[in-house]
Amino acid sequence: MIKIASDIDKYVTAAELKEKQAAAKKLLPRLKTDDMTGWVDQPINYDKAEFARIKAAAQKINSDSDVLVCIGIGGSYLGHKAVIEALGNGPDTLIIFAGNNLGPAVLNQKLKFLEDKEWSINVISKSGTTTEPAIAFRIFKQKLLEKYGEEEAFKRIYATTDAAKGALHDESVKNGYEMFVVPDDIGGRYSVLTAVGFLPIAVAGIDIDELIAGAAAEREKCLSSNENDALTYAVTRNCLLDKNFDIEILASFEPELRFFSEWWTQLFAESEGKGHKGIYPSYVVNTTSLHSMGQYIQDGRRNLFETVLSFKDSKSDYTIPSDPVNADGLNFLAGKELSFVNEKALEATVAAHRSGGTPVIILEIPNLSAKSLGALIYFFEYAVGISGMLLGVNPYDQPGVEEYKNNMFRLLGKPGY
Ligand code: PA5
Repeated sequence: MIKIASDIDKYVTAAELKEKQAAAKKLLPRLKTDDMTGWVDQPINYDKAEFARIKAAAQKINSDSDVLVCIGIGGSYLGHKAVIEALGNGPDTLIIFAGNNLGPAVLNQKLKFLEDKEWSINVISKSGTTTEPAIAFRIFKQKLLEKYGEEEAFKRIYATTDAAKGALHDESVKNGYEMFVVPDDIGGRYSVLTAVGFLPIAVAGIDIDELIAGAAAEREKCLSSNENDALTYAVTRNCLLDKNFDIEILASFEPELRFFSEWWTQLFAESEGKGHKGIYPSYVVNTTSLHSMGQYIQDGRRNLFETVLSFKDSKSDYTIPSDPVNADGLNFLAGKELSFVNEKALEATVAAHRSGGTPVIILEIPNLSAKSLGALIYFFEYAVGISGMLLGVNPYDQPGVEEYKNNMFRLLGKPGY
């Protein structure tokens, strides 16, 4: 489904590539045996009974809510935000997001926006104790209680959390919120293809069967051969790192992929950036970024490489009109589709950056659909799993994130800090 092409042979010898490939292949059995690798089989092993319950909950929310407030941060936020932005929010229920920052102004805007709406909450936190979503949940829950009263408000709260423990789990059991589970063996940033992502994505009117089918097809491709494209991608980026290309830029030419790029950035940053190792992940959204970051990528320090997402078929289009006056001199484009111009911009950018000394990996994806996005999510999860092992780090923990939390709790006077 996803195909990879790169100009790595300009930077890395065939022998170096072969050696890295051999190292990667040796690590493959660990995808079955390491802790927190539940994501590997999740596209076929997902809880089918819960999946049906999620669809029923989505239908109920669509019928009684103009807005669903999704509360969560990091892996409990970015995956579903990415998919909904990429594929569009359907007409029934608008998904808005809260608890992913501590900014008072945006919080107040959201509360104001909700005043004349019917709404529900999906609070998502694996640990059930993360500060930002916990504060947001307290605030939005109070507003929901004021609007609907306890009995109805509690029916409008959907909690996605640990199956057995945590403050959110305990409160949900006590108050009878409908609950969904973040599996024990799947970490936050690998959880978009669990209830974490499924409920908001289904409420947004996106086909979650297609999403998981795409992931299952890509899983099959990855697991059935150790010569697969996701492995090649992981190997390629690590070979480039050995040549001091330690910054990777994910480039897309579809503005609706900005949050997919944010999700990708989190997946790679939290999985690889530890023990003073890792490739620094960044992203650009073209052609907008060509007029800002493009200069640096073409001509700045030569320590970065680019991974370009190239979609073969556009999901929507517009034909550039003819203009009898032609004051702008654009009639040479009249009758051409905007997607055609965008495609030529991609080709021109790849050629320019390659000739400027930026290695470019191209990932070719058939189209921007739920199925393709499910495949792309799995492709990157698989690649980062291998890539992290090649680097010699644990791709599933995030010890560095704790440091700021401890400082913040101390400064805020939390008991015990
Ligand atoms: O990927 C991760 O593990 C993190 O980004 C977490 O998802 C994030 O910190 C939120 O954690 P929780 O779901 O426990 O509130």
